[in-house]
Amino acid sequence: MSPRVHFLLEDLLVEAPAGTPLQRIADAAGADITFGCRTGSCGTCRVRVVEGLEHCSEAGPEERDFLKGLDAPPDQRLACQVIVLGDVAIDYLGL
Ligand code: FES
Repeated sequence: MSPRVHFLLEDLLVEAPAGTPLQRIADAAGADITFGCRTGSCGTCRVRVVEGLEHCSEAGPEERDFLKGLDAPPDQRLACQVIVLGDVAIDYLGL
């Protein structure tokens, strides 16, 4: 069964194959997440992973450094850097 991604802001529930980048899922679904750089350096795509943080790829060093600079708690991620591995629920925060 494919992972389900729940975009909480617009209560949008979609399925995507495991291993799909969250930004691709958000774009295809028309989810209300603003992407800027798409390389993990601007922060406009910051989200809170409300459920399923364990189903997200691990943050790389650059994403970790960026979020640390914002004092972001561990449940916050950059949507452009996340690979979805299982069911998740996502809340959009922005910068
Ligand atoms: S779009 Fe810039 S950090 Fe994700």
